[in-house]
Amino acid sequence: MKYAERVLKIKDGRGINISEATANDAEEILAYMDIVGAESDNLFVEEGTKSFTLEGERNFLRAQENNESALMLIAKCDGELAAMGDIHIVTTRPRGRHRASFGITAKKAFWGQGIAKAVIEELIAFARGIGAEIIELEVKVDNTRGIGLYKHLGFKIMATHKAFFKINGEYTDAYIMQKYI
Ligand SMILES: CC(C)(COP(=O)(O)OP(=O)(O)OC[C@H]1O[C@@H](n2cnc3c(N)ncnc32)[C@H](O)[C@@H]1OP(=O)(O)O)[C@@H](O)C(=O)NCCC(=O)NCCS
Repeated sequence: MKYAERVLKIKDGRGINISEATANDAEEILAYMDIVGAESDNLFVEEGTKSFTLEGERNFLRAQENNESALMLIAKCDGELAAMGDIHIVTTRPRGRHRASFGITAKKAFWGQGIAKAVIEELIAFARGIGAEIIELEVKVDNTRGIGLYKHLGFKIMATHKAFFKINGEYTDAYIMQKYI
């Protein structure tokens, strides 16, 4: 275990439990990804997780658990999986291990409650603890909520990655954002 479970409050006063995802969460995570994949077109997952198998997801989560340079967190509210985020060192090679990359999602019903921010802050603390110096991410240029959240947390737009996504035949750019931690 790389992360000790934490209980925090979101804006409506409800408590959330943030913990490290384990292989036992695989089924719940697949169901969650089906939902968040359908709630926006901001992610690579689109019509849910039909291409993922339960065994594949369990193996992936086990690998994450055993990887000292990566952390996947889940946030639950009243037992419901409400948000999820992960961070990993881009490469363990000396020339690249100062950089960590992360991803974040929250169920639409929980947007605006500070849950994504809470998870990201935990991920950043972990990254700092393992020696990362820069956190980076890619975000679709029209994802104003995501960009607003990242700027709020001190990330800056560094570059535009052209044609990062191809959605229904249309290319969409993404911003590369970074935060020095
Ligand atoms: C992007 C996403 C993770 C944001 O989740 P969220 O739970 O609504 O975010 P939070 O409530 O934690 O927002 C946190 C902060 O960002 C700020 N914020 C949000 N939108 C903002 C905006 N447009 N401008 C400025 N600040 C903004 C909020 O004020 C809040 O700060 P505060 O708590 O100090 O007031 C969520 O909308 C989501 O899952 N979207 C679909 C998937 C996705 O886009 N993932 C990111 C891919 S790069």
